[in-house]
Amino acid sequence: MTATANISTTDRCDIPDHTLFVCKTCASAWQDGKRLAGSGGEQLLQELQHLAQDWELRDEFPIQEVECMSACNRSCVVAFAAKGKLTYLFGDLAVNESASAVLECASQYYAKPDGLLPWSERPKALKNGILAKIPPV
Ligand code: FES
Repeated sequence: MTATANISTTDRCDIPDHTLFVCKTCASAWQDGKRLAGSGGEQLLQELQHLAQDWELRDEFPIQEVECMSACNRSCVVAFAAKGKLTYLFGDLAVNESASAVLECASQYYAKPDGLLPWSERPKALKNGILAKIPPV
């Protein structure tokens, strides 16, 4: 009996290639030094999660909430990242009007081998709020 038969790379395959990061702290309201529930980022996250239920890439491009991506004065903020692709950080996203555009742009990102998202091809909501385009690792 060989011990190698059941050793596979499935653990590695469980790591998603693509991730849509969404800051849930953006556009928060504060009272007496405490952040109130129901931030704009949480609303955007919920809308994205709702729309993603019917998104063809929901399994390949999971949504991951994050506390902050250090672009707080440009809220709301999302990022696209994938192995071997450019990483994009987008800000200035309207809370209630951006979710479908974010998923549309994520689909474009997914389709490109290098993840390149030319200005002319991006949805309107993501044309002007680009904060970073980071080379692939
Ligand atoms: S609070 Fe959203 S980027 Fe910092």
